Amino acid sequence: METIYDILKAEHKQVSDLIQQAMRDGSKESFFKVKAKTDPHLLGEEKLFYPLLQEKSELSELVNHAYEEHNEIKSISSELESMDAGSSNWTSKIKELDESVSHHVEEEETKVFPEAQKVLSQDKAQQIAQQYLDFSKSFKQEQPSMP
Ligand SMILES: [Fe+2]
Ligand SMILES: [Fe+2]
Repeated sequence: METIYDILKAEHKQVSDLIQQAMRDGSKESFFKVKAKTDPHLLGEEKLFYPLLQEKSELSELVNHAYEEHNEIKSISSELESMDAGSSNWTSKIKELDESVSHHVEEEETKVFPEAQKVLSQDKAQQIAQQYLDFSKSFKQEQPSMP
């Protein structure tokens, strides 16, 4: 059975592909595809995954740092949302998003997940995977269709 790490890693890859596409075509539509994939990912981690890690005091610093990175990604994303795709700093802002996301993904995959694997059982990691998938599904159903 899939664990939460399998699912999050697969989504990291999808987000990265979508960002590459957005950098290639520079369209707002492509940015919205990035956002539609990124928003539930960040929220799902914050609701279902990070809180379990925060219970372990030895991981609190790592998790606090991950929250800060989420906030940075959300703030760049909301700037992009209010920008015109044709504006002069669009390209550099998308690049900023790419760098911020890549950095965070690397930290999760090389630091957060290995530490999480030490404190969460395999059973738990599968259980959160199911909760995450349910959350992700309901999140998508609640979203208004993208412009
Ligand atoms: Fe992630
Ligand atoms: Fe994250």
